[in-house]
Amino acid sequence: MKHKKFSYKSLEELKKDMELLNLNFPIDDDISVLREEVKEGDKVIPNRFVIHPMEGADANSDGTPGELTLRRYRRYAEGGAGLIWFEAVAVNESGRGNELQLYLNENTVDAFKDMVDMVRQKAKEAMGEDFSPYLVIQLTHAGRFGEKKNLLVLNELVDNAARISPDKEPMTDEELEQLENDYLKAAKLAKEAGFDAVDIKACHRYLLSENLAAHTREGKYGGSYENRTRLLKNALKKISEEVDIDLAVRLNTFDSIPYPYGWGTDKDGNEDHSEPKRLVRELEELGVKIINVSAATPYVYAHITRPYDQPGKLGYEAPEHPLIGVNRLLCLGKMIKEELKDTLVVGTGFSWLRHYAPYVAAGVVKEGWANMIGFGRQSFAYPDFARDIIEKNEMDPKKICTT
Ligand SMILES: Cc1cc2nc3c(=O)[nH]c(=O)nc-3n(C[C@H](O)[C@H](O)[C@H](O)COP(=O)(O)O)c2cc1C
Repeated sequence: MKHKKFSYKSLEELKKDMELLNLNFPIDDDISVLREEVKEGDKVIPNRFVIHPMEGADANSDGTPGELTLRRYRRYAEGGAGLIWFEAVAVNESGRGNELQLYLNENTVDAFKDMVDMVRQKAKEAMGEDFSPYLVIQLTHAGRFGEKKNLLVLNELVDNAARISPDKEPMTDEELEQLENDYLKAAKLAKEAGFDAVDIKACHRYLLSENLAAHTREGKYGGSYENRTRLLKNALKKISEEVDIDLAVRLNTFDSIPYPYGWGTDKDGNEDHSEPKRLVRELEELGVKIINVSAATPYVYAHITRPYDQPGKLGYEAPEHPLIGVNRLLCLGKMIKEELKDTLVVGTGFSWLRHYAPYVAAGVVKEGWANMIGFGRQSFAYPDFARDIIEKNEMDPKKICTT
């Protein structure tokens, strides 16, 4: 079945397409499970809804949150989600994606603290004095997709998308060693600003995600599995030794780029779960408390990262039915959840389902495919979706994201 614009008038119609496409992700009519608290160590996350990290490209040029950034996070806070995962924030100047990306450093930390205080206050005002959302900050280095186009290996497929010249010099091992310390420094500042957790972002082919796939790189950060996972694991180890803050990772579970340039893929670009499974088990041993599932890179395979109807001005028509994309993301979450004992898994792939998402979300939680449910585009369009589901038991079809 070819790509089709969302037009379901009932959950039954959606289920019919699932049958035609031979998809079996779980659905449950009773969505009360989504209101449940989730325990994370000695903290309590007040419900299972997560605002996914979503860059708004509205920071000030010094990296502090801009007016629109603050408005967005205020709306999320008032929207009632139990966990707000703050968008990609650069850990150093050269890792900044662009000059509208947030950047955490000694000069901006006070502005981040003010934003965190505002979010906690607004959440209480909207949801009650005892309501305290769990706050994660996503720390990133944009790598080849940043202004400086810092890359680890040359790779024709992704280099064309990022407009990188074939004679660009890869980053040195010394620069990468220093980067481990930049993550540590940023984690200390995140603690100072009042976040509950830091996410060492390893998805969408930004630097740490590219590193997981750096099979063709020489030196201590390339080639073997140990070398390709070194930077991510060293950054996590250093933080856990020195900073009293929870650890989280947003992880690509599958790049879709064929081996030897992809992670979690075979030479045809199909899923190969062996290394992602091993890595999530090791991340749990290192003390990672939450893993947020993602896949591919929006610069090359946007339909995999975020199943859509409308490609947008710069996009392409999706080569598959969006329900296949939704199913893939849900199954990747299930795949890693099965490897983990206590680490919480945040599922991804719900926005395209519109107002039917809560029923799939409830099924996913009940069947143990994920502990928490992330909404990306939906939270831009409809920041109080969680509150509506909690208080009215449904989402308002007039407010939903229709991308
Ligand atoms: C405009 C935009 C910005 C995004 N920014 C981030 C980001 O900062 N960090 C991240 O991990 N993912 C980012 N994503 C991906 C989303 O978090 C999410 O994984 C994706 O949109 C699929 O979820 P959805 O179907 O609920 O939208 C972004 C997506 C969009 C459309």
